[in-house]
Amino acid sequence: MKLVLASGNRGKLREFREAFGQELLSMDEVLGEEPVIVEDAPDFAGNALIKARTIAERLGPDVIVIADDSGISVPLLDGAPGIYSARYAGEGASDRENLLKLVGELKKRGVKRTPAYYTAAIALVGGGIEQVVHGWMHGEVIDEPRGKKGFGYDPIFIPEGYDRTLGELDESIKAKISHRAKAIGLARPLIGLLQRKEERR
Ligand code: IMP
Repeated sequence: MKLVLASGNRGKLREFREAFGQELLSMDEVLGEEPVIVEDAPDFAGNALIKARTIAERLGPDVIVIADDSGISVPLLDGAPGIYSARYAGEGASDRENLLKLVGELKKRGVKRTPAYYTAAIALVGGGIEQVVHGWMHGEVIDEPRGKKGFGYDPIFIPEGYDRTLGELDESIKAKISHRAKAIGLARPLIGLLQRKEERR
């Protein structure tokens, strides 16, 4: 049973492949183009399900589709950017523009660092089931980007228990502690179950 990641985000694909290996196919490998998906649910779980269902409908029953919807929330900013993380600086904004918008919001308030957390919702659709699991990573955001590792908001995020940003820390550390790693840890046994169920059919 094919395993497909419903995401065009190269950073996410890299992190998911570390967990599932090259067996995990990307959306462009199976579809050729990236479909336009309107993510209009009020939360991460709803948006992850929208993505997974849309791709699962296109690919048919012999595929397990994995979709991740994730983002960063800053309590000082009433939870922003939250589900709008990918378009915080506007529709089609780059990762860098979104990060600089968040830095600008901190600077406007004269805040050098403040608590923040990442959320990842992973939806699994296929083999007759729909499931969503979550993972979180807590820490702080700072008002100056540091380091080039990771992607998105990583250069301004310092995980709890560390004194460097995810842009500076080795990627093997993020792979152990991240919101996505935690959600993947919950998704993995479900995927194994689905694959075994399919083999018995
Ligand atoms: P999505 O692809 O619609 O789920 O949007 C995710 C948004 O949250 C993008 O702007 C990402 O840059 C950001 N994001 C999600 N996970 C991470 C992460 O692990 N590091 C940095 N940014 C992330």
